[in-house]
Amino acid sequence: MKIVVSRPLPGNALDRLTGIGHDVKVMHPDRSNEEFLKAAAQADAIVSMLSDQLKAETIARLGSKLKIIANYAVGYNNIDVDECSRRKIYVANTPDVLTDATADTTMLLVLMCMRRAIESVALLRDGRFHGWRPDLLLGLDLKGKNLGILGMGRIGEAVARRAEAFGMNVLYHTRSGVKKHLPYPHVSFETLVKESDVLSLHCPLTSETRHLIGKKELAMMKKTAVIINTARGPVINELELAQALAANKIFYAGCDVFEEEPIVNPELLKCRNAVLLPHIGSGTVETRNEMAEMTVNSIIQALDGQKPEFAVNRID
Ligand code: DGY
Repeated sequence: MKIVVSRPLPGNALDRLTGIGHDVKVMHPDRSNEEFLKAAAQADAIVSMLSDQLKAETIARLGSKLKIIANYAVGYNNIDVDECSRRKIYVANTPDVLTDATADTTMLLVLMCMRRAIESVALLRDGRFHGWRPDLLLGLDLKGKNLGILGMGRIGEAVARRAEAFGMNVLYHTRSGVKKHLPYPHVSFETLVKESDVLSLHCPLTSETRHLIGKKELAMMKKTAVIINTARGPVINELELAQALAANKIFYAGCDVFEEEPIVNPELLKCRNAVLLPHIGSGTVETRNEMAEMTVNSIIQALDGQKPEFAVNRID
């Protein structure tokens, strides 16, 4: 059967598909969207990336033999899952395997913001380091600070465990309410925003979470607070974040995701107090290889007529 892969994947997972006789077409990294969709229209299975927008009108252009879209990501807000279910196409994702890598990236951003790592590196490299000074680039301690987690799923929990090791007090808010197995206080959204020294976003992107953080919420935050986004860019209003940072309404922001990737709002790029990473949350060799293996497993299961273990929809 024909499998179209949106971009080359790390590791050798795709060999398992060719090994059992499937025809695998891996698109060139510089391919256009049209080229991808043209190839995908002939496919029995597609491996998509979070950057592929597979909305209803695009899905309508795909062939009737398509059985699965295996998204190479845990988030699948780029796919119209309801439309896929209507057309009896499975959608699968890659949960769990990227939890630790993404939680590590979150802590990387927390530390870089709290300790002003980008400014420090720039000062040294620009030849502006003229010797130790008691007041040189002072950051903020993590110990004793409140880490507010918005959206306490697997990644949120992994971040909480890491933050505890740094002596932070964890509090959280999640729309589904208190999670009984967790020792941390569940607080209202407003309390979380107001009380957090570090506010870390871990909610999926939905119509309810789009622009959940904007001018009003940023104004409610402590002046010394840091906001971290390793979830999805549109959860924060990027322009309003840039304006808050420029006016020093909050201390710092650490973002691994952006509203219109790969575009980053020019106002945000100008902010001295923003640490900006190019969506590398899950970007480790081990994690990306494992994601490829899971994606291939899902395809094998779907093409075998089974429901993939990591299907996010039902098609019966
Ligand atoms: C995901 O899988 O949703 C991540 O954003 C990828 O890094």
